[in-house]
Amino acid sequence: MKVLEVHNLTVSFDGKAAVDNVSFDLNSGEIVGLVGESGCGKSLTAFSILGISPPSSILSGKIIYKDTDLLSMDDESKRKIRGNKISLIPQDPLSALNPVYTIGEQISEVLEVHKNATHQQALLESEKVLESVNIPNPKQRLKDYPHQFSGGMKQRALIAMALVAEPDILIADEPTTALDVTIQLQILEIMKGLKNKGKAILLITHDLAQVAEVCDRVFVMYMGKIVESAPTREIFLNPKHPYTIGLLNSLPSDSKKSLSPILGQPPSIDSIPQGCAFNPRCPFVFDKCKKEVPELYDVKSSNDHKSRCFLEIKN
Ligand SMILES: Nc1ncnc2c1ncn2[C@@H]1O[C@H](COP(=O)(O)OP(=O)(O)OP(=O)(O)O)[C@@H](O)[C@H]1O
Ligand code: SF4
Ligand SMILES: [Mg+2]
Repeated sequence: MKVLEVHNLTVSFDGKAAVDNVSFDLNSGEIVGLVGESGCGKSLTAFSILGISPPSSILSGKIIYKDTDLLSMDDESKRKIRGNKISLIPQDPLSALNPVYTIGEQISEVLEVHKNATHQQALLESEKVLESVNIPNPKQRLKDYPHQFSGGMKQRALIAMALVAEPDILIADEPTTALDVTIQLQILEIMKGLKNKGKAILLITHDLAQVAEVCDRVFVMYMGKIVESAPTREIFLNPKHPYTIGLLNSLPSDSKKSLSPILGQPPSIDSIPQGCAFNPRCPFVFDKCKKEVPELYDVKSSNDHKSRCFLEIKN
């Protein structure tokens, strides 16, 4: 079931689009990956869905949740949805937890704010949700302060906080970046479990190995635009966009870490190249690419697969 539709989301600063006409949807019971290099607009997209945007930004487009456009809601209505119906698993557990409150106080506060739960009820629910993310002795650990938790436990506590109000949608913005590989895999396992319970998850990452591990569908972003989208298997077996092909070629086969992907750096939004934004780094570039912006086209050989390129590259 479709739970979120993003239509032509654009986030601009000073007339320059950092997120440019991005469209995608999310279904319950699936994990969708949003992938791309640093600065391509992943977090701005995520935060727009949560109703948070930098003060200097201008947003346009639609983000439809339950027949309502989140972008046209007032701040109070957005606050009611954030953390309650749509929640964030943030990137940095250190800065996301408040050092002066216990883990239990921080998780239970979500229920007190959003569900009018009493402190006692909220603590009981918090204990259950900590247990569900594999924190041993949850009743005791609720009384701990963040500094008494390891990095992996802090990230699990944040997942618990994101989950406690039973949201429909979880946005995970690079949720495992600060963690070692074993803990990363545990967090990904928790996400798979949530998907199986019917949650819709948007997983933002620059790590294609994680995408292969858990995502059902993938959207690849470059310089604010979606450049390719397809079911995960299709992206890995039949990539069409030269940027995606570059990302995949730079994946080390024997390791879980992604390398710096493609020669050169993405340009900044102040100097987006004319034509196809990828043209200065593209091995297939030709004249037209420097003048015209390619549209997304439907890849003929497969369903639900789009690429933004003038060429349909044979694999
Ligand atoms: N507050 C802001 N003011 C001006 N420009 C901004 C602001 N926030 C983001 N941008 C621009 O938007 C671009 C996209 O930012 P965003 O944080 O969404 O990237 P990202 O894909 O999440 O990168 P990373 O992988 O490093 O987290 C940035 O490169 C920057 O140019
Ligand atoms: S449109 Fe041209 S520059 Fe852009 S990805 Fe395709 S071939 Fe490369
Ligand atoms: Mg980011």
